[in-house]
Amino acid sequence: MVSRVIPVERFDLVIFGGTGDLARRKIIPGLYRRYLAGQLPDDARIIGAARTDFDRDEYEGFVRDAVEKYVHVKKHNGDKIKAFSKLFSYFKIDALGDEGWKGLARLVRKDVVQAFYFSVAPRLFGELAKRLHKYKISNDQARIVVEKPFGHDLESAKKLNAVLAEYFDEAQIYRIDHYLGKETVQNLMAVRFANILFEPLWNAQYVDHIQITVAETVGVGGRGTYYDKSGAMRDMVQNHLMQLLCLIAMEPPAHFDPDAVRDEKLKVIRALDPVLPEDIVRGQYRAGDGEDSYLEDAENPDSKTESFMAMMVHVSNWRWNGTPFFLRTGKRLRARKSEIAVIFKDPPHFIFEPQDSAQDGRRCNELVIHLQPDEGMDLRVTLKEPGPGGMRLMDVPLDMSFAEAMGRDADEIPDAYERLVMDVIRGNQTLFMRGDEVEAAWGWVDPIIEGWRSRGDKPKGYDAGSSGPEDALMLMHRLGRRWREIT
Ligand code: BG6
Repeated sequence: MVSRVIPVERFDLVIFGGTGDLARRKIIPGLYRRYLAGQLPDDARIIGAARTDFDRDEYEGFVRDAVEKYVHVKKHNGDKIKAFSKLFSYFKIDALGDEGWKGLARLVRKDVVQAFYFSVAPRLFGELAKRLHKYKISNDQARIVVEKPFGHDLESAKKLNAVLAEYFDEAQIYRIDHYLGKETVQNLMAVRFANILFEPLWNAQYVDHIQITVAETVGVGGRGTYYDKSGAMRDMVQNHLMQLLCLIAMEPPAHFDPDAVRDEKLKVIRALDPVLPEDIVRGQYRAGDGEDSYLEDAENPDSKTESFMAMMVHVSNWRWNGTPFFLRTGKRLRARKSEIAVIFKDPPHFIFEPQDSAQDGRRCNELVIHLQPDEGMDLRVTLKEPGPGGMRLMDVPLDMSFAEAMGRDADEIPDAYERLVMDVIRGNQTLFMRGDEVEAAWGWVDPIIEGWRSRGDKPKGYDAGSSGPEDALMLMHRLGRRWREIT
């Protein structure tokens, strides 16, 4: 299959934090893949800016290393990598002072698309925004890209929004949630809104419940100090899982344009009920498989921070009244697996003999959208087991791997950052969070976290390599449902 590559306009991209981990692992490799696809104009300029003492040659070396390390070896081509690295230049910048800014002002062109990627600590966002204006670097159409964490709670998110709004309009601000850039997440919108098949069933009348799972095998070692102040709720639920929930639950927007989509997502967040303490389970991993426990990784023996959480959530509107959404995420679990499962109700009247699948609590029809590791979808339907011997039924998955369906290797499916950076250049905000969405998400999350704090709640221990604490299983069992396996 030939993929369609639409060239983008001429641009200058400045990566603040250009020597950091995100630039090395995601932004630069993503740009290289777009370069190979022929999408970058010949005179594109990419400028790394950071505190490190690099000259241009050293930075080009950094760029080449990033490509060699983080792009699949099949795409390595010495000449191309060299030519790609020549698009880069480097400026030593002091985000809190004046060093480097005049030079940057001379380099950045005013008559092309300007994108400024703030791949730095959030406390520097305002400082960078201020200096882009002070040194007259950015034009009226310039785009700024900010990374999570976008605030720590509602108050800090509001402050950040206010600081950025002093210098840039909302239409210029691109808040990244990289989950929105994942192929399957976008496919979720295509499945729902480009087909007639599912939408009539997509409501409380036909959907029994929805499960959203983001399970990881990694622990928090290496970033324990950051994580301990954050926990699964702030690190994963407030952003990634809530975004997935929004896309699953939202009404069809009138158009596929940024504000129409984001208006609908915002309505979902505003329709979320407060969560009862008994509908949330928090967990913390113990040591296992030769790896340290959470408490050791976080270097905080008294930590009450959760590395796992599961919760039941209700969206109070006409479409979803009475349908529970179960959200679950955690570190050091049995497998790396992210999926959304829509579990449909059983037929209203079952004419066949009771079958095993009905007895073990599983429903007949499930639509499972696999986000990772293997992107795809499967739809479980009940069919007759072939052969004589009566009407024995069996559940069959109708499987579709995206890579196979498109005749591509899995590593050819664009990475989230690759897509998102190009969307910034194209000026398409659909896959980025709007300020009011982020604030609404914090507004829902804050009272839950405050409840844990005021009650002094402690997370339950769970074994590394398991599916999380027993209580998480009970959250579903008590309602006659069960989690899909993390395998
Ligand atoms: C990040 C979180 O936003 O997402 C990490 O801070 C988490 O804790 C990561 O590991 C997961 O992203 P992905 O794309 O690997 O699922």
